[in-house]
Amino acid sequence: MGFKEEILKRRTFGIVSHPDAGKTTLTEKLLLFGGAIHIAGAVKSNKIKKTATSDFMEIERQRGISVATSVMGFEYKDVKINILDTPGHQDFAEDTFRVLTACDSVIIVIDSAKGVESQTRKLMQVCRMRKTPVIVFINKLDRPGQDPFDLLDEIEKELQIQVTPLSWPIGNGDVFKGIYNIHKENLCLYSASVQTIQDGIEINDIDSDELDSHIGERSASKLREDLELVREVYPAADREAYLQGQLAPVFFGSALNNFGIREMLDCFIEIAPTPLPRETEERIVSPEEEKFTGFVFKIHANMDPNHRDRIAFVKVCSGTFKRNTNYLHVGLGKNLKFSTPTAFMASKKSIIDEAYPGDIVGLHDTGNFKIGDTLTEGEKLHFKGIPSFSPELFKYIENADPMKSKQLAKGIDQLMDEGVAQLFVNQFNNRKIIGTVGALQFEVIEYRLLHEYSAACRWEPINLYKACWIEALDDKELEDFKLHKAQYLAKDKWGRDVFLAESQYMLQMAQSNYKKLIFHFTSEF
Ligand code: G4P
Repeated sequence: MGFKEEILKRRTFGIVSHPDAGKTTLTEKLLLFGGAIHIAGAVKSNKIKKTATSDFMEIERQRGISVATSVMGFEYKDVKINILDTPGHQDFAEDTFRVLTACDSVIIVIDSAKGVESQTRKLMQVCRMRKTPVIVFINKLDRPGQDPFDLLDEIEKELQIQVTPLSWPIGNGDVFKGIYNIHKENLCLYSASVQTIQDGIEINDIDSDELDSHIGERSASKLREDLELVREVYPAADREAYLQGQLAPVFFGSALNNFGIREMLDCFIEIAPTPLPRETEERIVSPEEEKFTGFVFKIHANMDPNHRDRIAFVKVCSGTFKRNTNYLHVGLGKNLKFSTPTAFMASKKSIIDEAYPGDIVGLHDTGNFKIGDTLTEGEKLHFKGIPSFSPELFKYIENADPMKSKQLAKGIDQLMDEGVAQLFVNQFNNRKIIGTVGALQFEVIEYRLLHEYSAACRWEPINLYKACWIEALDDKELEDFKLHKAQYLAKDKWGRDVFLAESQYMLQMAQSNYKKLIFHFTSEF
């Protein structure tokens, strides 16, 4: 197979949802379709149960599982599908955002009873920002849920995206009879007792009596009414609008019962984007380019404290990645080659010789990589779109064991490379501040420092509202600001200037007093 065909064969996407909507279940059923796994239950849930916030074994267990399920590749109808796993727990939202930067499209799972939930809203914001094509799967139709029109209204309003249903449910809960596949114009009947996938029943004319004979007169006339309204209210399926991130096709089903999924998967492989061109600071990189480029979107530490090596997950953006070949690590300005790059097929890992755009390779790393690093064949490129967000919570981190200060520094450094949290060093007193999205990360950091680096840390409170990246339109004004706000200045991991605002008021004052400085809440601007 030629290089171009390899690219056109690939679909790399992420499944996102609010916890419990059914992401894990859907992932598993997709893998079953691909024949990548053969029994249900093979994909372990990667979520940290709510009760386990302080159960460190649970965190460790979760980290172990998530190496295996970070990327799940499988083939379906000659298409190579890569599903990138995203953590469900909201304290790890930033990990999820980063994984999304490596996805060419996204499937959002929504619980038909609960509708749009907080986490879904946040994740969609990121998709909108990046114009990521989105398909929506409305799940748990076997349970009592909301009216489908109400759900679609809610999605349009809350997620700010136009929708077009491509399948339509017939009842829900106890009276769930099946779905009508608008896309293919056929009917799929649901039976709670039958778990095998049945072929849809061709219904070329929904006005025929045939429909009544399958689902009963009442359901049939309700379906006809619904479909008429669907036709009137929603735009026709439009692949271009979907690819632009403006229109989301919607499917209904029940992941647990493997129902309605094949309809979505068949449509997905037809419409989902093949690997897309990507922006770098220097230029746009097209997947068809001959030379290899890629970037690190995730780093995973080894759980074994005796082997502190890590896996860096690289998304191949262009060209062919080859084993044992020298590539330029742009950030370090040094050539590296990899003798054991791994690819991920379902829950298996295997060493590969080549990888193509859209693929994810796992590189064995002894501490060279940071999230966002670029690999090329020599060109100095920096991929965009892997921003840091201003954290929500801040604490000073102090050394609790004077004999272990070196270990602590190294541990902090490596955990920050992995993107566990963000480090800001106050330029006035040199104290280290850790910023996180959720409270759980502080516990994770403390635990991992102790167990992986034999270093003890202590947290001290700091009064901080936001950390903002400073963009200076005028150097003089920046100097003046630095002079007057010396106590509130920090550097991030990349040495960029950051303003530590103690309160919203303080930030507003700075904004109005320094008109030629822009204070950003994300690191990329
Ligand atoms: P998540 O990854 O999005 O957090 O959700 P997950 O797939 O783990 O599903 C959450 C719960 O919802 C699970 O039940 C799962 O069995 C159930 N579920 C998923 N899809 C459907 C569906 O289509 N219909 C129904 N009725 N339930 C569904 P649990 O009891 O929380 O977990 P488990 O102990 O069964 O694994």
